[in-house]
Amino acid sequence: MNITSCFTKDLFQGKTVFITGGSSGINLGIARNFAAVGANLGIVGRAQEKLDAAAAELRALGARVSTHSVDVRDYPALEKAIQNCRDELGPMHTLICGAAGNFPLAAEQISPNGFKSVIDIDLMGSFHACLAGFEQLKETQGNIIFISAGQAFMPYAFQAHVGAAKAGIDQMMRNLALEWGRFGIRCNSIAPGPIEGTEGVRRLVPAGSADQLKKMIPLGRFGTPDDIGQLSVFLASPLAAYITGTLVVADGGQNLPGSGAWTQLIMAEMAKAGKP
Ligand code: COA
Repeated sequence: MNITSCFTKDLFQGKTVFITGGSSGINLGIARNFAAVGANLGIVGRAQEKLDAAAAELRALGARVSTHSVDVRDYPALEKAIQNCRDELGPMHTLICGAAGNFPLAAEQISPNGFKSVIDIDLMGSFHACLAGFEQLKETQGNIIFISAGQAFMPYAFQAHVGAAKAGIDQMMRNLALEWGRFGIRCNSIAPGPIEGTEGVRRLVPAGSADQLKKMIPLGRFGTPDDIGQLSVFLASPLAAYITGTLVVADGGQNLPGSGAWTQLIMAEMAKAGKP
């Protein structure tokens, strides 16, 4: 697959980007976009066969790739993977904390262990990666991008566990930006809206409702993994050298207050009156 990148092909030449959850979905889209600008890629996932398929795809784009079959909840294993990746590809310049878990469920039905699983994967897993990657990021004066979500700042039904985890990630991001600026490390979050073809959309968008939901998004479509990939390359690049501690919302306007049912009703009214 060819990536049409807005960036020069050697922007990340020789630099290592380490991505948790990098074998599928949004995170694989991010990996593809870094491959297109010359980065080496370390990717972490739980299933080796998904990692192998992702690595083959990224190598076809010209990237050097190192795969690590690790659960981000297991700190010693993740720490070892981050060290092994350095041995293979050199110190990380960018860390993408993308590993996440989600299942939609009414708050009163989530078991304590189900809630904890999501907190452990999303929030603890992100902290684990930051802690284990810190020395390398200090060495490269690198940066961290956390994959957040609209649930972090907007309540969504059946997402109490995810909202708590993502809000925690964003506040941790701000704390790390504050503390690690002195080492030249930048920290930012991206909150993607619904992204086509991902496990998140499969789990969260009720069957048959995609078209209706798209109409409620001001830009009229779901996002693509490349939308988030290009934004990640920008945030990790010198173009964003003075940006730290920021949450960038890339959701087509989905989470704007007033987006959704209210706007739909007004638009329908305008259409009835023959106004565009
Ligand atoms: N509904 C209700 N509870 C669920 C559930 C569901 N669909 N899926 C898992 N759980 C609960 C389990 O019942 C268990 O709790 P219990 O011990 O009280 O029964 C707890 O969550 C852990 O389940 P387990 O299967 O051991 O989870 P895991 O730790 O291997 O996996 C999850 C983590 C739960 C997040 C799982 O959904 C997952 O692996 N997701 C990865 C992919 C993903 O979510 N992608 C979307 C990203 S947006």
